[in-house]
Amino acid sequence: MDEKKVALITGGTDGIGKATAKKLLIKGWKVVIIGRNKLKCNETVSELKNITQNQDISSILADLSLLSDVKRASEEFISSHKKLDFLFLNANALKQERTITKEGMEWHLALIHLSRSLMAKKLEVVMNATPGSQILTVVGLSLFPIDYDDLLIEKGYSAMKALSRYQWAVLLYSREFNQRCRVPMNIYMPGLVKTKILKNEPQPMRFIVKIANLIMGMPVEKSAENIYSVINDVIANQRKGIYYSINKIKPYPLIKISTTESNRVWDLTNELISKYL
Ligand SMILES: NC(=O)c1ccc[n+]([C@@H]2O[C@H](COP(=O)([O-])OP(=O)(O)OC[C@H]3O[C@@H](n4cnc5c(N)ncnc54)[C@H](OP(=O)(O)O)[C@@H]3O)[C@@H](O)[C@H]2O)c1
Repeated sequence: MDEKKVALITGGTDGIGKATAKKLLIKGWKVVIIGRNKLKCNETVSELKNITQNQDISSILADLSLLSDVKRASEEFISSHKKLDFLFLNANALKQERTITKEGMEWHLALIHLSRSLMAKKLEVVMNATPGSQILTVVGLSLFPIDYDDLLIEKGYSAMKALSRYQWAVLLYSREFNQRCRVPMNIYMPGLVKTKILKNEPQPMRFIVKIANLIMGMPVEKSAENIYSVINDVIANQRKGIYYSINKIKPYPLIKISTTESNRVWDLTNELISKYL
């Protein structure tokens, strides 16, 4: 029987996800990364095999802004793995132009929120069968409520607006997920990390981020250290519904939001992902 712990990491081809994959491989885990670019997936797998001398890494190709891809990737994982100890819902990117996917979703809504909700639900079966399994989902600091009358941000679109609204949805959905599902889900805020994600921001945001990164941005290796300590904590203490900022437990943001609100996000999300379940 394979005793290695198994992690599935979305957005494992770059930045925080890749550094976390490397850290887990060094610690003897088996890792599966999900990426949208075949060449980058193959290169990341080869590179991490070489660096860590752990051969237990593979990739699944999926564009996580497409729910049909999320469904297929989850099913591919389940068909080849009997257990999943740790699911890291981490992939994200920013698009300056408002984009509607071929499935009719605003691109960030699909990538940041719906893909994570769908993946958590699809993988519940294998995670329920893995004692002590845990989900960690990544958000940033910027959190603003969804506008239900303008869910797809037709008015005054900006990538930061999309990021803020759908991260807020991630937070509220996770609260309901923990009420209704057995696998624990915790929230992770990595702080300012030197990655490529904010490099496409328009000015003056790009300039501000560049300066902030120079002054207080942390290297991805440090971020992966922090995440590794959080992974150990959630598994050892079977945490549920905890908000971690960098490597500390902090009060859950939006704690004053009513359960009516989180129920609304839960219902809306399930309606949008139902045909892919
Ligand atoms: N860096 C920070 O300061 C910071 C702060 C707060 C929160 N965060 C959050 O931390 C997480 C990781 O971000 P990062 O800074 O590590 O960014 P990053 O270096 O740009 O990495 C993002 C990862 O997500 C993947 N990805 C993007 N769109 C995808 C899609 N449609 N399908 C599949 N994979 C996709 C990227 O793939 P490619 O390799 O193909 O680009 C990459 O592997 C994100 O959720 C981000 O919002 C970061």
